[in-house]
Amino acid sequence: MRVGRLVLLGALAGCGEVDIAVDALADARPRDAAAPTDRGAAPPDAAVRPDRDGPLDLGPDTAPDAAVDPGGDLPLITHLGGRASVEASGPDAFRVAAPDLDGAARRAFTIGEALFEVDWVPEPGPFDDRDGLGPLFHATACQSCHPRAGRGAPPTVPEQTPIALLFRLGAAGPDPVYGDQLQTRAIADLSPEVVIRVEATPTAGAFDDGAPFTLIAPRYGFSAWSQRPPEGELVVSPRVASPLIGLGLLEAVPEAQIVAFADPDDLDGDGISGRANRVLDVEAGQAALGRFGWKANQPSLRQQNAAALSGDMGLTSVVFPDEICTAAQVECQLLGLDDEPEVSPRALDGLTAYTRFLAVPVRPDPGDPRVRTGQALFHGFGCAACHRPSMTTGAVADAPALSEQTIWPYTDLLLHDMGPELADGRPDGLADGREWRTPPLWGLGLTAVVSGHTRLLHDGRARSIAEAILWHGGEGAAAREAFRSAPADAREALIGFLESL
Ligand code: HEC
Ligand code: HEC
Repeated sequence: MRVGRLVLLGALAGCGEVDIAVDALADARPRDAAAPTDRGAAPPDAAVRPDRDGPLDLGPDTAPDAAVDPGGDLPLITHLGGRASVEASGPDAFRVAAPDLDGAARRAFTIGEALFEVDWVPEPGPFDDRDGLGPLFHATACQSCHPRAGRGAPPTVPEQTPIALLFRLGAAGPDPVYGDQLQTRAIADLSPEVVIRVEATPTAGAFDDGAPFTLIAPRYGFSAWSQRPPEGELVVSPRVASPLIGLGLLEAVPEAQIVAFADPDDLDGDGISGRANRVLDVEAGQAALGRFGWKANQPSLRQQNAAALSGDMGLTSVVFPDEICTAAQVECQLLGLDDEPEVSPRALDGLTAYTRFLAVPVRPDPGDPRVRTGQALFHGFGCAACHRPSMTTGAVADAPALSEQTIWPYTDLLLHDMGPELADGRPDGLADGREWRTPPLWGLGLTAVVSGHTRLLHDGRARSIAEAILWHGGEGAAAREAFRSAPADAREALIGFLESL
């Protein structure tokens, strides 16, 4: 058995195995459990309140100034997605379309929704627009990985084949035999590329007040390769499916604004750089700003979705017209022969509309005064330096609901060095092997309700919000230490704020 570099980086010698199913939901607090409204809460401790000058932006309807955002001394924003917010709660809270879509957009959304949920089958199937799965694939439906448009989780026992967790391959370009993503399933009697086993190594740590915690670092085993094992050091990038709300808003943020957040040489000396990724826009044939994926490795929702169809399900489209079989995978090639894209342009448009228009749930007033304290701490601990509370969208001709407004995604869409323990060692566009895109935090508190688990981070290793913070290293280390050394009530207030999003 060969192991990836990640294993070596993440593992601490001599530890046994743990069952990562246990505790997974321990920290999941349903957002409905919040205390009744109390807007008259005392302002938080001045020591943790960020310094600010000048006027502050109070909400989605006022003139946006992305450089200043509210801390704990200001009202909590409820419409994080601006006009693309919806009153929605419960398991289906992420499955709702933005309001005020015109007829064409609404129809495209509905087509996309059906295609997102359907199980694709190998050719020939009963319906032309739902067959073509494989020859190699990872899952049969978008929603097998993004449950209810939410996020996926890694396996909870080593015997379980990863579904929502996929593995990008190769540090220096695609592997000549297996390409750039490992496929754990195949049609007919073709062999899957590999069998993957996910285990975990526990590490003990403690908060400054003595309270203990345990983190689990994933460990991956690869066996039963369909052909020879990849040559050289095996570098894999494990990635779990991310939640899909509000993505059309993020696509509508003008490039110049995101680039302006970047500080690649850390000129302001705050220890946080932030770089924009540049990746290939396949249809335009030129480099573009990367926005989507854990390393901001896709420039648009259209290309992201076409890549998912191709890389995750073996479905060709106009964007990626060739099956993913490499030249070395002859049987795969023979099974995959087909002249026409398996997914029609209309179907791809539908999926793109679906992922553009999924609304952001309105954040109920959490009531609990600690949430406002937590909001101040979020700034005071330095979280907002990367998880930027607000941005402004530009004009979007066909989608007024997405257009020209302040949104509150809590991301800068930039890449940050997150330290050796989270590193995958695999570059992606301009992203290096230690960099990850700051993920949006809107909807975070609904993770358990929508997705049925509370696993976070790119590989799902964190079992709770607290664990996700404790894994922050590199540019995020100072913020992590601020959290780790804070008293228990401050830590709880911060988590309360994050769960209220
Ligand atoms: C095998 C599991 C899997 C399947 C099937 C899958 N996805 Fe994903 N999805 C992922 C992973 C993993 C990521 C993060 C990818 C990355 O970092 O490169 C992702 C990311 C995305 C994103 C970008 C999210 C963001 O915040 O940047 C979109 C949009 C998306 N998927 C849509 C789809 C659609 C549409 C389908 C069906 C055509 C689909 N996915 C099928 C696993 C999956
Ligand atoms: C240097 C930039 C940076 C800072 C500062 C930072 N984060 Fe993050 N955060 C990230 C990145 C990048 C990731 C994704 C890392 C990964 O998946 O490996 C992340 C992931 C997370 C996640 C998991 C999100 C998900 O979808 O899985 C949470 C929760 C989170 N951060 C909260 C915080 C909090 C709270 C603070 C302050 C204590 C903070 N972060 C400070 C960059 C930052």
